[in-house]
Amino acid sequence: MIGWLIYDEVGEKRNRWFIQSFIQSAMNHGIELVLKVISDNVEFCANSLPDFVIVRTINPQINYFFEVHGIPTFNSFETSKIANNKWLTYKLCQKLKIPTMKTQLLSTESSPSDVLDFPFVLKSLNGHGGAEVFLIKSKQELEEKSTIIDKNNFLIQEFCSEPGRDMRVYALGDKVISGILRTSDSDFRSNFSLGGSVSVSDISSEQEEIVRKIHKELKFDFVGVDFIFHKGKCVLNEIEDVVGTRMLYKCTDIDIIDLYMRYIIKRLSFNL
Ligand SMILES: Nc1ncnc2c1ncn2[C@@H]1O[C@H](COP(=O)(O)OP(=O)(O)O)[C@@H](O)[C@H]1O
Ligand SMILES: [Mg+2]
Repeated sequence: MIGWLIYDEVGEKRNRWFIQSFIQSAMNHGIELVLKVISDNVEFCANSLPDFVIVRTINPQINYFFEVHGIPTFNSFETSKIANNKWLTYKLCQKLKIPTMKTQLLSTESSPSDVLDFPFVLKSLNGHGGAEVFLIKSKQELEEKSTIIDKNNFLIQEFCSEPGRDMRVYALGDKVISGILRTSDSDFRSNFSLGGSVSVSDISSEQEEIVRKIHKELKFDFVGVDFIFHKGKCVLNEIEDVVGTRMLYKCTDIDIIDLYMRYIIKRLSFNL
């Protein structure tokens, strides 16, 4: 059996250890996993496709291509589409009655300051690592920011009452694997990539129920579900499709790569 592990060039450079470990883990299970480093305008040949693909680049069209060609795709197109768009994630939460912060597209009729009080958060629909997440404290700050962003690609969101803190729940299929709390003393954004500190944290029954609800809807394979905290409650912040595993290896003994490989084999052998 042959699988492809798909990365873009930047991702491949940042994740060499993960890639090698994945290929080794597959080999231990008798599977040939081949790294494919792709560019944005890649075209695959429909005549020579693998038995399955693991997509580790953010580009839902790639997941779509393999899915329509009948190739088992980890994660699915639907998961990739929703998780990589914060507005679609918000709409999904509304549908599933999952708590979120009050959120509005920036490009609506009403003025942002009529919808939310300052300070609020301005973030792009498809940003990562906190790079396009801004705290807006005044009308003037909003006007300044608005001149340098694509207004159609941003949303505004109520500022949570416990900034600088969030929790990621790793999930493999319908099982929660571990919870990692991220905190920052110096920034309202607690992203690990921005220097946030990390520690293992118990997953509450409420969080577990939310993750299961999302799994039931999206049938994701491996994701992180990120929560922020507001007035004593946890609310969903985002779903991470191409979820990193550094925090898991740093904080736990869990070999998530091997667990994921076993999960993939099980799904393939039962044709799920
Ligand atoms: N509404 C909010 N209120 C306060 N902090 C927030 C809010 N939304 C996001 N953050 C903080 O900013 C970080 C990055 O935001 P996030 O929405 O996860 O974007 P990204 O996809 O870039 O990681 C979060 O991990 C959290 O710490
Ligand atoms: Mg995030």
